[in-house]
Amino acid sequence: MSFPATRPRRLRADEFSRRLVRETRLSPDDLIWPVFVLEGDDAVEPVPSMPEVERMTIDRLLPAARRAQDLGIPAIALFPVVPAEFKSEDAREAWNPEGLAQRAVAALKDQLPDFGVITDVALDPFTTHGQDGLIDDTGYVMNDATVDVLVKQALSHAEAGADVVAPSDMMDGRIGLIRQALETEGFPNTRILAYSAKYASGFYGPFRDAVGSAGNLAGGNKYSYQMDPANTDEALREVGLDLEEGADMVMIKPAMPYLDIVRRVRDRFGVPTFAYQVSGEYAMLKAAAQNGWLDEKQVVLEALTGIRRAGADGILTYYAPQAAQWLQDQG
Ligand code: PBG
Repeated sequence: MSFPATRPRRLRADEFSRRLVRETRLSPDDLIWPVFVLEGDDAVEPVPSMPEVERMTIDRLLPAARRAQDLGIPAIALFPVVPAEFKSEDAREAWNPEGLAQRAVAALKDQLPDFGVITDVALDPFTTHGQDGLIDDTGYVMNDATVDVLVKQALSHAEAGADVVAPSDMMDGRIGLIRQALETEGFPNTRILAYSAKYASGFYGPFRDAVGSAGNLAGGNKYSYQMDPANTDEALREVGLDLEEGADMVMIKPAMPYLDIVRRVRDRFGVPTFAYQVSGEYAMLKAAAQNGWLDEKQVVLEALTGIRRAGADGILTYYAPQAAQWLQDQG
């Protein structure tokens, strides 16, 4: 009689042994919820390319954030939807102490002091041309002039009470100058989550619809600052620079098509590493689920577990409240 020397299937035979040998766990602790914030009162607006995601005014955001906190989610990431009249060439609304993002931060910290608040540091919601920085006559995004503005924006977020500032702009040297400003202006504990390896991705399309920057970008692209999807070693150099300059946490974005980058960053640096399951990843999963082509709960939890397995400590995902609810339900 012949039989296999080992039978890996033995451990898969029952739920109890599958649980015992499970290597990766997904918990609400791993989730950050990105939200789109609207001007005005008592209003929510759907995002057509992101079904079931709602843009919310600050008063509507507060109870939604409280529910997210009750579900065990540690932090929220804010993205303001800036009305056209506040957009300009020089993006000056970005550092307005009374701006939408700054007011949202202050309201959240006032109502939910223990809930982490993360802000986006980049100029695209505030520029008439939809680029993440200031442009010269040729349309090129100027690095150092942009960084000066990003520093002011990050400081205004810290002054409003932000716990974490997250530069998503991909300018060179911005982490160092933001860190220096935070230290010298009295915010030594404000954390920096650096979007270190942010790729020039087609998967950001629905986000640009949600914040209303797609029209402004008008067929333009971000290839002169966001990374080429073909590159890996360059991501390691970017992460190394951001850490040297004072980042506390680093991010890879998007997530699912870039899990190899997550793994290499985690292995090389061993620092808190985050991945962003971006708007296009959400839209793909949601569209297939709505068509009945995929089982939403199964594939969403599988995708999030895969991102964790690749080495991410945490995940920004529009599915955060839903995923936390599913995880709570299954105990
Ligand atoms: C812009 C920014 C983008 C996202 C977060 N911050 C889009 C872009 O670079 O055009 C994308 C997030 C998503 O797609 O969910 N600073």
